[in-house]
Amino acid sequence: MGKKVTVVGAGFYGTTTAQRLAEYDVFETVVLTDIVDGKPAGIALDLNQSRSIEGFETKVIGVTTGPNGEGYEAIEGSDVVVITAGLPRKPGMSRMDLLETNAKIVRSVAENVAKYAPNAVVIIVSNPLDEMTALAQLATGFPKQRVLGQAGVLDTARFTNFVAEELGVPVKTVKTLTLGSHGDTMVPVPSHCTVGGKPLSDVMSADKIEELVVRTRNGGAEIVALLKTGSAYYAPSAAAARMAKAVAEDSGEVIPVCAWVDGEFGISGVYLGVLAELDASGVRRVVETTLTDAELASLKEAAEAVRAKQADVATM
Ligand SMILES: NC(=O)c1ccc[n+]([C@@H]2O[C@H](COP(=O)([O-])OP(=O)(O)OC[C@H]3O[C@@H](n4cnc5c(N)ncnc54)[C@H](O)[C@@H]3O)[C@@H](O)[C@H]2O)c1
Repeated sequence: MGKKVTVVGAGFYGTTTAQRLAEYDVFETVVLTDIVDGKPAGIALDLNQSRSIEGFETKVIGVTTGPNGEGYEAIEGSDVVVITAGLPRKPGMSRMDLLETNAKIVRSVAENVAKYAPNAVVIIVSNPLDEMTALAQLATGFPKQRVLGQAGVLDTARFTNFVAEELGVPVKTVKTLTLGSHGDTMVPVPSHCTVGGKPLSDVMSADKIEELVVRTRNGGAEIVALLKTGSAYYAPSAAAARMAKAVAEDSGEVIPVCAWVDGEFGISGVYLGVLAELDASGVRRVVETTLTDAELASLKEAAEAVRAKQADVATM
């Protein structure tokens, strides 16, 4: 049978994710849902009308959902569910300022996902990311490996873009890595960054690397400040769509995601940005990358910073 993916939330992030997933042409169905009456159906109609131009057969279905789970039958049988529902930041806000509002939204969505798509792999996007991922796992009751969050693919892509632009080289020659949390304790890992196969530190000064690390850490806020309303969605949706595709295709790809860490790096019992192998079961394995002492210390610091907040969401 063909694969089915659901995207919850038909805002900027959700609609661009649905578009990318449809254009991959690897799913039979993309379901797009929102609480705003008519919006997901309108977007689905519009996307379907692009099929003959873009050359994909995937069918997009738009469904409005209600406060008591009305409409959620449409997500039945989903292999993957991407949750983008929730408010984005406004200029000057931190991701943590969204915690209480988005916790209510993500909890209710996750409960309905558990009821109507009990076998799905769930990818969380709503912010604050690490906390919402932990909350969605609690609210679904799914195995921890089946709930993961999107941050690392995006943060890495931002870092890669900055390095490529700075050096004037094609992005495909640049490999970067960021771990840790999607926030102030993001941990860029320069020791794993290369340009044309050479260590980044051979082709860029330590000061410049640090400048680009800081810009990567503030990458979301830089865009929020320019947009004035709403937050980034082109690179973020590319990141979430890529994760959903890896799961649907059972690819075993190793990519940076927010995953449950239980013993790796000497860290236990927390959702954290790490490299992981993705397959149809979700996170097949957390990959224990070799880190310098300083990078490992930063990763442990990030784990402790998000651990307390993740414990708080249990009561939200
Ligand atoms: N993880 C990341 O890297 C990353 C990057 C960018 C944005 N984000 C986050 O993604 C989220 C969405 O961003 P956006 O730009 O699409 O915002 P948006 O305001 O454009 O869209 C959010 C949508 O969610 C819908 N919604 C609210 N409650 C819902 C519910 N219960 N069920 C279904 N839909 C519901 C709203 O009606 C709205 O259409 C925000 O929390 C934002 O901070 C995360």
